[in-house]
Amino acid sequence: MDKIFPIFANETNRKTMYNSKIIGLGYYVPDNIVTNADLIKVMDTTDEWIQERTGIQERRWVIEGSGDTSATMGAKAARIAIEKAGLTTKDIDFLIFATLSPDYYFPGCGVMVQDLLEMNTIGALDIRNQCSGFVYGISVADQFIKTGMYKNILVIGAEYHSGGLELNDRGRNVSVIFGDGAGAAVLSRTEEKGKGILSTHLHSEGAHAKELIVEGPNITHWVDDIMKENNPDDVSYYPFMNGQFVFKHAVVRFSEAIIEGLQANGLQSTDIDMLIPHQANLRISQFVQHKFRLTDDKVHNNIQKFGNTTAASIPIALTEALEEGKIKEGDLVVLAAFGSGFTWGSVIIRW
Ligand code: ACO
Repeated sequence: MDKIFPIFANETNRKTMYNSKIIGLGYYVPDNIVTNADLIKVMDTTDEWIQERTGIQERRWVIEGSGDTSATMGAKAARIAIEKAGLTTKDIDFLIFATLSPDYYFPGCGVMVQDLLEMNTIGALDIRNQCSGFVYGISVADQFIKTGMYKNILVIGAEYHSGGLELNDRGRNVSVIFGDGAGAAVLSRTEEKGKGILSTHLHSEGAHAKELIVEGPNITHWVDDIMKENNPDDVSYYPFMNGQFVFKHAVVRFSEAIIEGLQANGLQSTDIDMLIPHQANLRISQFVQHKFRLTDDKVHNNIQKFGNTTAASIPIALTEALEEGKIKEGDLVVLAAFGSGFTWGSVIIRW
């Protein structure tokens, strides 16, 4: 019997493996700065508590009605990344959008960006891996480029957290942490050997899904129920975080992901020129920095001014580090993330 799907295409791709390389980066954050002092006006907290526990001094929050959403902020970051790559939106073959705060339950933000940027009718894939979303997105893009399927792929991480936070004493342990913003990268095919994305490493452990979650509405507790019950204690539609549990797992998984990536490439922590950890919490980043004995110039943190922007945090920090001249050609750059799911992963890059 004839095979319906011939296997030749895959075999051809295997022979013509390419590498992928980040050729453009950009980020966008709303103008509106919310300081710890601003939060004290709406909840029982202190600047000292927030800084000591998280390192955060201020974050950006969308002004309602400004038009900023995860999709529009993502599109703004993407425009910059595409321009820096020396391309136009028509040159992009595929786009990947990572967020936990999409504009709509469905469809995803990817198609919004395809429209906003007037792109060709390219494929648009949405990724729901929270703080690890950008790392997952880079990994997917890398595979598509390696096989020769696509040449230029746009990867976006964007979040509009502030619209969904509980801004009172009950929600204070979560709402002080998160910020809004977007970051984007253009990955492109390269035939240079030993350059660009060297490897990516992805993991998950769903047993801990409920330790960091927005539970409702869901398929058994739908909007109708929530509205009918009108229960003031139903906080299922706000993020829940078991902070100490998340912290303990984050420090272990961040380290594992970095070690796995280094070992896969025969490298050691002394080879790292720049570590960009997901900006979960300054204390987590500092723990990882000390574990790998990295000096301050080898780790880029910006949670102090942007808060935790989840899927956007790595592309924002990577763009900033590059713009500040902290990353040079040939450097070993490591991206590492951990977040809700739990999900975690790393990307090893020779810049
Ligand atoms: N201001 C003042 N007091 C607060 C606040 C606040 N914003 N939030 C909580 N508290 C109080 C609590 O009510 C509690 O009071 P009590 O002792 O009277 O009961 C006290 O502070 C300690 O609360 P904990 O939750 O135990 O505080 P902890 O020291 O664990 O710090 C934090 C909380 C910062 C969330 C910490 O657990 C942490 O860093 N966890 C890691 C999780 C993380 O970084 N998440 C980011 C998102 S997930 C990600 O990106 C991976």
